[in-house]
Amino acid sequence: MENLYALKGNIIFAKEFGKYEILEKGYVVVEGKLVKGTFEELPKEFSNIKVIDYEDKIIIPGFVDIHVHAPQYANLGLGLDKELMPWLEAYTFPEEAKYFDMDYSRKVYSSFVKDLWKFGTTRACVFATIHKNSTKLLMDIFDESGLGAYIGKVNMDRNSPKELTEKCEESLIDTEEILKEYGSKYERVKPIITPRFVVSCCPELMKGLGYLAKKYNVPVQSHLSENAGEINFVKELHPECKNYASVYDCMGLFGEVPTIMAHCVLVDENEIELMARKKVFVAHSPTSNFNLSSGIAPVRRLITRGVPVGLASDVGGGHTLSMTKVIVNSAQASNIKWVETYRVDKPLNTSELFYLATKGGGAFFGKVGSFEEGYEFDALVVDDSSLTIFKDLSLAERLQKFIYTGDDRNIKVRYVAGKEIDEPKCY
Ligand code: GUN
Ligand code: FE
Repeated sequence: MENLYALKGNIIFAKEFGKYEILEKGYVVVEGKLVKGTFEELPKEFSNIKVIDYEDKIIIPGFVDIHVHAPQYANLGLGLDKELMPWLEAYTFPEEAKYFDMDYSRKVYSSFVKDLWKFGTTRACVFATIHKNSTKLLMDIFDESGLGAYIGKVNMDRNSPKELTEKCEESLIDTEEILKEYGSKYERVKPIITPRFVVSCCPELMKGLGYLAKKYNVPVQSHLSENAGEINFVKELHPECKNYASVYDCMGLFGEVPTIMAHCVLVDENEIELMARKKVFVAHSPTSNFNLSSGIAPVRRLITRGVPVGLASDVGGGHTLSMTKVIVNSAQASNIKWVETYRVDKPLNTSELFYLATKGGGAFFGKVGSFEEGYEFDALVVDDSSLTIFKDLSLAERLQKFIYTGDDRNIKVRYVAGKEIDEPKCY
């Protein structure tokens, strides 16, 4: 009974896409790292366990951000009046070139992790930079914080500024070093293979990374079909491939291991079919897609076709780490998509988006993002009493109001894998 305890409060989670499970003043029982079950009344067998009573507060799964760039946190809100390629050149690449400097990296990375914590993100899939030492540092900082993450050393060996252009072979050697050293160093912080995008990786590098992903059974993350200029560039580089996705596919980087592709704004039917077949996750990042004039991803269509989808901040293309803001942007994006498709692609409602921000993205981490039995217990305790509430609201409405009008100040407690997580240190 030692490691058994229960939280009491207003419990909301999404087991299925578009459907809340709601327990008013209910219990979630946790055993070690895992959820044992949710109950309206505490069953007799648990009558002796510790109960933490959160009274009228709301208890939800922690948010999962499946695509975010840690070094770009230093650029938050900058240069977002440009499109993707000019933005990369003017703002992103010069910033990322600084991460050979360990002191600077420590400063930005510890602040980044602290703020992820602040906004209630309990798991994230993160791009670092090409620099192996500061990438390792980012993994150390994450582990110390208690948050869960996949973290990738970025690979770039073509069409990049000099300071960010690796030699193909060294890029592979550095990547393999991290896989060996960090593959099982931490329980919830793991490496992920991270070719930046086709534009910045030569075929040998992509093939080598595909080989490493399989050899070490490590997942893959990259960018796909975000912007028209980018797609044209990929067409010029790979006239032999029928589309952008098939370039990754030829290189063994498209669903051979669990894979996330960020954006997918302009994917065609063939690419969608391939993503559905290979179960490639889409990291939907509407905040970024609005900022960089990229467009609106066909999320309803992707989901209908069976493509797994999670939500993502894509900081610094996105200007906030807040996943509640990303949910709101996703809702707005889907409303406009609905109008643009002559009311064919139905808007995504709040419960559908809440699912994507928790269990949808959480699926990339295993059993994460829900309070079903056997799921890792990642949770947020939300106090919505400061919000403008003048009348009786249902719990689903209270959650909706928090998502639309609340912020990090409403999040009072965070749990990851059964443990309460304190504010991470900032250096
Ligand atoms: N494509 C290649 N690199 C990047 C990046 O850093 N951010 C975004 N949004 N798209 C990319
Ligand atoms: Fe990105």
